[in-house]
Amino acid sequence: MLYTGFMSEIADLQQKIVSLSKRRGYVFPGSEIYGGLSNTYDFGPLGVLLLRNIKNSWWDFFVTRRANIHGLDTSILMSSKVWEASGHTASFTDVLIDCKKCKTRTRADHLIESYFEAKGEDRSVEGLSPEELSKIIEDNKIPCPKCGERDWTKPRKFNLLFETNVGIVTDSQSTVYLRGEIAQGMFVNFRNVLDTIRPKLPFGIAQSGKAFRNEITLGNFIFRTLEFNLAEFEYFFNPTKDNWQALFDYWKEEMKKWALILGLPEEKLSWRIHTDAERAHYSAKTEDLDFEFPFGIKELFGLAYRTDFDLKNHMEKSGEELRYTDPETGEKILPHVIEPTFGINRVFLAILANAYSEEEGRTVLKLPHALAPYKAAVFPLVRNKEEVVGKAREIHETLVSEGISVAWDDRGNIGKRYYSQDEIGTPFCITIDYQTLEDDTVTVRDRDTMEQVRIATSDLEFYLSSQ
Ligand code: GAP
Repeated sequence: MLYTGFMSEIADLQQKIVSLSKRRGYVFPGSEIYGGLSNTYDFGPLGVLLLRNIKNSWWDFFVTRRANIHGLDTSILMSSKVWEASGHTASFTDVLIDCKKCKTRTRADHLIESYFEAKGEDRSVEGLSPEELSKIIEDNKIPCPKCGERDWTKPRKFNLLFETNVGIVTDSQSTVYLRGEIAQGMFVNFRNVLDTIRPKLPFGIAQSGKAFRNEITLGNFIFRTLEFNLAEFEYFFNPTKDNWQALFDYWKEEMKKWALILGLPEEKLSWRIHTDAERAHYSAKTEDLDFEFPFGIKELFGLAYRTDFDLKNHMEKSGEELRYTDPETGEKILPHVIEPTFGINRVFLAILANAYSEEEGRTVLKLPHALAPYKAAVFPLVRNKEEVVGKAREIHETLVSEGISVAWDDRGNIGKRYYSQDEIGTPFCITIDYQTLEDDTVTVRDRDTMEQVRIATSDLEFYLSSQ
C-alpha cells in the first residue's frame, strides 16, 4: 500500500503484533493452507483462551452481576423478513468504488480517510452520500492505493448482509441472511422473554456471538473482518417513566468501567458522538468509545438509543403483539431501548496492542493477569533428573486439576523458557529445583518485575489466585 510508509513506527508495532500472534498461536490467517481468505482469521490455542477470558469478563460484568439483565443465544441464520423489518436490507450499506485499472475494490470513505491520514490530516467522511464522496475523490485527485491510477468507477452502495439459501432450490422464498448484528435475535425473542421469565421494566436482554458483514476493507488485521465476535445488550425501559438520557449516561459510565477492568488505559479511550449523517438508520443518538489502536483512533464500543424503532417495526411486520403490559396500571406500552455494543475482536486487538512491549532484550505481553491465556508456567530446572521432573509434573497436574490454566515447558534452558513465556504474557513462572525435593518450596518469577520469590508448594494456588 502506498499510504502506509509514513507511519513506519506504528506499522512496525502492528506488524510485530501480527507476527507474534501467528508465531505463538494467538491468531492465524483464515484458510491459510489454501492461500488464505482475505479478512478472515482463526483464533489459535492461546487466542481462544484470551478470547474466552474476555467474553467471560463481559458476561460476568454485564449479565451475571446484574439481576435485571437476562441472557440469550439465538440463531445466526435468520429469516429475510427479520432484516426487511429491521431496515437492514435497505439501509445497511457501504459506498464502494473500483479502480478501473487494477480492479481494486475499496470503501470510498476509507479511501478518502487514509489519503488524508497519510497527509497528517484527520478527516471523517462517514455518512456522506455516494455523490459527495465522489466529489472529494475527484477534487483531490485521490489515487488508487495499489496501482497509483486515478481512474475510478462511480461510487455505488453495497449491502453488507451475507445472503444464502436454505434448501436445494435457490429462489427468493429460500433466501436467509447471516445476522449482521446479534441485536435482532433479541428483538424477535422479546415476546418469548416476556412470556417465560416475566421481567419488569427496565430490564436487559444480552448475548454474545458471531456477526457477519460483507466488508471490503484495506486490512488492519482483526479490526474489521467478515465475521467477528460481538457482545451486546438491549436495555428496555418505559419512556414515560425513565429518562433515556440518564440511562444513556449510566451505560456510558459502565462501558468505560469495563474497558478499564480490561486494563485499557484511560488516556487511550475517548467518546465520540456520531453526526446525524453517519448515525445508523435505527438510532436517535449514538456515541462510540474509541481506542487509540496502533493504526489510529478507532471505534471499540458503541452506544445507541434505538428508541422503539425495532420493536415497532417487528410488531407491524409480523403482526405479533410486542407491547409490554405494565403490571401496576395494566397499560400496554412499547418499550424504548438503549443498546451498548462491544466488538470483542477489537477488544482482543486493543488488549494485545496495549500489552505489547519490548524491554531489556525481551518481548513482554503485559496482559492483565485475569485475561492471560496461562496464569503460570511450570518448569523442571533440569530435564535429566527424574525426581525433579516428577515433582514438577506433580505440581503441574495439581494446579491444572484445581482449574488453573497452567503451561508446561521443559525445553531449552531456563532463560529461553522465561523469554518464551514473557512473549505470550504468562504472569508467573514456577521452577522446581533440587531444593524443592528437600523443603517443598519453588521459585516463582514475576513476568513484569522479573523478581523471584521462594514459596511453599502448598501456598502456590493461593499465591496465584491472589495476584
Ligand atoms: N447492534 C449494533 C451494532 O451492530 P455496530 O457499530 O455496527 O453496531 C458493533 O457494530 C461493534 O462491532 C462495533 O462497535 C465494532 O467494535 C464491532 N465491529 C463492527 N464491524 C466490525 C467488523 N467488520 N469486524 C470486527 N468488528 C466489527
